Amino acid sequence: MVISLSKIKLDQRFSPYQMPAVIIGSIANDKPNFMLCTWVSRLNRSPPIWMASINRKHLTLEGIRENKIFSINFPSTNMVAIADYIGITSGRLKDKSETFDVFFGETKAPMVRDCPLNIELKVTKTTELPDHFIIFGEAINTYISESNCTDGKPDLKKMNPIVYTGIEKQPSYWSIGDKIADAFKIGKEFKK
Ligand SMILES: Cc1cc2nc3c(=O)[nH]c(=O)nc-3n(C[C@H](O)[C@H](O)[C@H](O)COP(=O)(O)O)c2cc1C
Repeated sequence: MVISLSKIKLDQRFSPYQMPAVIIGSIANDKPNFMLCTWVSRLNRSPPIWMASINRKHLTLEGIRENKIFSINFPSTNMVAIADYIGITSGRLKDKSETFDVFFGETKAPMVRDCPLNIELKVTKTTELPDHFIIFGEAINTYISESNCTDGKPDLKKMNPIVYTGIEKQPSYWSIGDKIADAFKIGKEFKK
């Protein structure tokens, strides 16, 4: 099948750009544990449902399946080294429970105080894939650090989130660029 002569076929496992790099917090072996996750997304408006895709070998998965809670924490670029550390170090080999200063909300899910944005979630459903499990979770509470707000509202520039890309030979972390347009509006100006 010829798609287009100007297209190049990539490895089917190719990971594109613009994936958020988030810290998943869980309780495993009765202690907080954290891993880095880029296969994560918001899925439903009301109730707010998120999903995280987690490899079956990870201690995080064990903890989430046992306790039915987890957190999604959005680190700033100044946390890139610690974020990568928890992405290359399993809690099975090294205790990561004291890696971060944590706080708790309504659930038992440990949240990372230094991350500007934190969501605590209750597991609603789990789906098994060949090497990952998709964990669906309903957001119970969402928190923003006051220092990352302007006029009481979350300020994306101040939050300065980490974006992961597998697009280059060496996968890497990036910061966000500039705003280019208003969503749900700019399309109204489009004329074919
Ligand atoms: C950039 C990056 C992205 C990652 N994304 C995921 C992911 O989306 N899902 C996943 O299961 N593991 C992902 N990992 C791997 C886990 O974070 C890593 O294996 C971690 O050590 C698991 O910790 P645990 O065994 O304590 O749960 C990623 C790692 C890095 C460095």
